[in-house]
Amino acid sequence: MKILVVYDSYFGNTERIALAIKDTIPENKHVVVKKISDFHSSDIEGVEVIIIGSPTRAFRPTEAITNFLKKIDVSKYKWIAFDTGVNPKQIKSKILTFMVKLFGYAAPNMAKTIKKAGGTMLADPETFFVIGNEGPLVAGEIDRFHKWLESVKI
Ligand SMILES: Cc1cc2nc3c(=O)[nH]c(=O)nc-3n(C[C@H](O)[C@H](O)[C@H](O)COP(=O)(O)O)c2cc1C
Repeated sequence: MKILVVYDSYFGNTERIALAIKDTIPENKHVVVKKISDFHSSDIEGVEVIIIGSPTRAFRPTEAITNFLKKIDVSKYKWIAFDTGVNPKQIKSKILTFMVKLFGYAAPNMAKTIKKAGGTMLADPETFFVIGNEGPLVAGEIDRFHKWLESVKI
């Protein structure tokens, strides 16, 4: 089975998680990890499962990730979606906390798009937290990511 990991990242946090996927996926699976800017249409040939990751930017995935989901036939694949974003416990502004609660994170947004387009989600979307606005990842998030991915039946 071929698995495509496609992600975007500005400061390297989402990339750290995407690159950690290879440590979790069983060795008998063929995993291709691509930053969205390096993605080529041939990368998707023979793929059954797509793991998609994006930083949360203005409560949504990045433009490149959004365009990717528009460009391909989403219904052909099984999906796992994750994002990175600010930890609500660390936000000092009440209005921002309210907005984060209201508008959410990139992964639920991607999952909604995927389901609407007929794709199958293999797991609920998940968010991994960074410190401040640019990271690094909060301690323990890579471990939490591994445990989360291990619990998904791929
Ligand atoms: C312009 C900008 C907008 C952002 N908007 C959000 C947001 O709406 N919600 C959130 O949780 N984090 C937001 N963040 C924090 C990013 O989610 C954080 O930079 C990202 O998780 C880092 O991932 P990366 O290193 O892969 O780019 C924003 C950061 C920037 C710079």
